[in-house]
Amino acid sequence: MQKLAIQGGSRLNGEVRISGAKNAALPILCASLLTSDTLQLDNVPDLNDVATMRGLLQEMGVSIAVSDALMELCAANIGKLEAPYEMVKTMRAAILVLGPLVARFGEARVSLPGGCAIGSRPVDLHIKGLQAMGAEIHIEHGYIHAKAKRLKGARIFFDLVSVTGTENLMMAAALADGVTVLENAAREPEVVDLANCLIAMGAKIEGAGSDTINIIGVEKLHGARHRIMPDRIESGTFLVAAAAAGGDITLTGARADILENVLEKLQEAGAAIQVAENTISLKMNRRPTAVNVRTAPYPAFPTDMQAQFMAMNCLAEGNAMVVETIFENRFMHVQELRRLGAQIDVEGNTAVIRGCAELQGATIMATDLRASACLVIAGLAAQGETIVDRIYHLDRGYEHIEAKLSGLGANIGRIK
Ligand code: EPZ
Repeated sequence: MQKLAIQGGSRLNGEVRISGAKNAALPILCASLLTSDTLQLDNVPDLNDVATMRGLLQEMGVSIAVSDALMELCAANIGKLEAPYEMVKTMRAAILVLGPLVARFGEARVSLPGGCAIGSRPVDLHIKGLQAMGAEIHIEHGYIHAKAKRLKGARIFFDLVSVTGTENLMMAAALADGVTVLENAAREPEVVDLANCLIAMGAKIEGAGSDTINIIGVEKLHGARHRIMPDRIESGTFLVAAAAAGGDITLTGARADILENVLEKLQEAGAAIQVAENTISLKMNRRPTAVNVRTAPYPAFPTDMQAQFMAMNCLAEGNAMVVETIFENRFMHVQELRRLGAQIDVEGNTAVIRGCAELQGATIMATDLRASACLVIAGLAAQGETIVDRIYHLDRGYEHIEAKLSGLGANIGRIK
């Protein structure tokens, strides 16, 4: 089991390059299943989840070639229409092969993802949407078995805003017969990036980024070349790290327009933010001021940034309230932060953090991807040494994080 050893107390200074977005790359990799032509992708991040998804697609028969930063995928010879439990249990985003497989091949067998650390995370909305498009779906032995001669366009209303639910059904609708309207659709930028890729492949999609997306199905999609958007959560994570530890950093290859809520909260905490063409700079020369956050679907405050802000609030001046409205169990990092001396009370989906002047380094354990990032941030700002265990969670969604942080002056290293 690999761990990270962090010597706290160093400020972060310098430039860091932001990688391609994990949550755009994962659905876009699955979009390769929608055509027999080659899909060329630039800026695909080097992450464990991306490697897992590549493995799954190759298992199905997708040929994948990677040279430098270009990834080429070709689903001309698909032999298997299945996503097995072993794959799906480690990465629930594998559910994203369901829509494309049913849309292009008329059949799919995808394991139910099961729950994960942050919540039960059902996929009922994905299934309901495909049934509305005419798919026959049976759940047997833990697998979703879907069949459809050809999907038909339908009007689908999401009871809950679902990012991958919107993405799965948008991909399915791209090849359906007729028009599909997705209402109460997710507005996340990663949904827009997927839509842009599908449109480049010949899909007819309007309204991505709004809560109503119209898709006119076409017979076939063709190959395209698409550049994966920058990762807004990686960007936010580095900015919060500098706000918590103090410093002066510049993110390159980053987009500020998709981080407005997070940038506003950082300014409220006392950080000075400067935005240019594709850079975001943050200066923090004092103890942060506590900021309240309430997570909600985009463009509100992202749930994937909740844990990181909690780490900053542990050291801030004043008290903060953190309300998690998306997932029912996304406070796993609280116990670990308390080991560093943080003062946090949790009542249901609300955490109240009383800021402390300092945190003491300790050995702590990562439980999920963004909780791991939170613990790294706390370790950077704590006094003394912090050992973060189970950092395989971190490697799922952050590309070479200790190298990037060392490049900013952090005293951090990987130990066996
Ligand atoms: C996506 O997960 C992201 N993952 C998550 O990022 C992110 O936290 C989440 O959206 C919310 O923004 C990817 O994009 C690969 P949802 P997703 O469907 O699509 C409930 C990370 O750290 N729901 O938007 O699985 C669900 O339980 C990860 O990068 C249903 O009830 O999330 C949750 O409470 C973590 N039925 C809420 O909706 C469904 O069929 C939002 O879930 C689908 C969802």
